[in-house]
Amino acid sequence: MQIYFCIHVLSALNIQLSAISLRIPLGNIESQARAVSLGGVEKLAAVNISELLTRAQALKPYCAAIRHTIHQHPEPSFQESETTALIRGELERMGVEILPVDLPTGVVGAIRGTKPGPGRITALRADIDALKMPDLCGKAYASQNEGVAHACGHDGHTAILLGVAKLLMEERTHFSGTVKLVFQPAEEGIGGARIIIDAGAVDDVESIVCLHGWPYLKVGEIGALGGKYMASADSFKVKMIGQGGHGCRPYKAVNPITAAASAICALSNLPANEVVTAEQSVVSVCTVHGGSAFNVIPDTVEFGGTVRALDPQVRDQLEAGIRRIAAGAAEMYGCRAEVVYIRGVPPLINDPALLDEVLAAGEKALGKDAVRPLDGPVMGAEDFSLYIEKLKKGVFFRLGTAEETDSEPVALHNSHFDFNDEAIPYGIATMVQLVLDQHQ
Ligand code: NI
Repeated sequence: MQIYFCIHVLSALNIQLSAISLRIPLGNIESQARAVSLGGVEKLAAVNISELLTRAQALKPYCAAIRHTIHQHPEPSFQESETTALIRGELERMGVEILPVDLPTGVVGAIRGTKPGPGRITALRADIDALKMPDLCGKAYASQNEGVAHACGHDGHTAILLGVAKLLMEERTHFSGTVKLVFQPAEEGIGGARIIIDAGAVDDVESIVCLHGWPYLKVGEIGALGGKYMASADSFKVKMIGQGGHGCRPYKAVNPITAAASAICALSNLPANEVVTAEQSVVSVCTVHGGSAFNVIPDTVEFGGTVRALDPQVRDQLEAGIRRIAAGAAEMYGCRAEVVYIRGVPPLINDPALLDEVLAAGEKALGKDAVRPLDGPVMGAEDFSLYIEKLKKGVFFRLGTAEETDSEPVALHNSHFDFNDEAIPYGIATMVQLVLDQHQ
């Protein structure tokens, strides 16, 4: 019995599918037959792997319209009040439960499956904030908020998670347990994930997954790396304190610039000299401030920079090294060093078992060739690593946004970047498939 029904047409018409029960072998494609009610007429519809993508494709106009609205009204970290209102309104319209999480901005929704089962609780996360930079995408929906732009594609992530919500609401009879939808503020401000975690929104969550648009994979492709994928991002400041004086009488002064210069040179060699070769890490001095005149030795000099590591132990090692070098250089020249080391986000370490599940879901939903190798690890950072640190189980994967014809894709955080609407259905289908697989 091979009866097909065009599900995406039904979805486009906003007709609720009622699901069921029969499993029909259909060639080598795993299929489910469902009774579909349309105008009182019961028909059987074969819903197979690719039909999930088809149904996600049918949501593209809705999701693209949402994305364009968000893109036109971008809001920076912790100021996403209009974006939050839009998300909340859409979730309420879908009938998604909004959880009472105390947040300045951002929303956490929950969709509870009705299928009997173990009742797992998992989460999907989208970031919703924009960057403080001009929008030069040139589209009709370009930013109307001057100096703020969705140049990292978080408008796309938000639209995709709303599409996921729509499909999961239709699929509630096909999964058990609860899926939390985390619309997180302030990823760019590096602080949003902490707010969500501190509010207790993921305390009962077993694992969490998010996607990020990636201009170096084609539309229809996904990619991820197991284990260490992104770095920790810490910052440091050193105040080298000497004793000022006339530039012509250095013997009457203690020049902090000499000590700072010595420390900066040593810091630049710290990873190469002290970190095991197999581990990537970075110490970059990015600021130096000191002195006011060519003939005056200043009292103090300040310098600072960023520290990146893929391994938590290497991160500790680098912090200790910076403190030691600053103190050592200060002592060598008779100065005193004050070091402030600020821990940002930890390294992002993808759980290998969960990654297998994500990639398997991607292959099922998008096709066998959809999963592509990914360059990495990278020394960039993402506050999604805070969820993984807490839950011990999370995956951050990439969603291709490049067109076949893009020879040189526009990079993230570039003023000309605009998330590609064509990628939306592939993100939705992968996430929904993952939920259906995880929540049996
Ligand atoms: Ni981003």
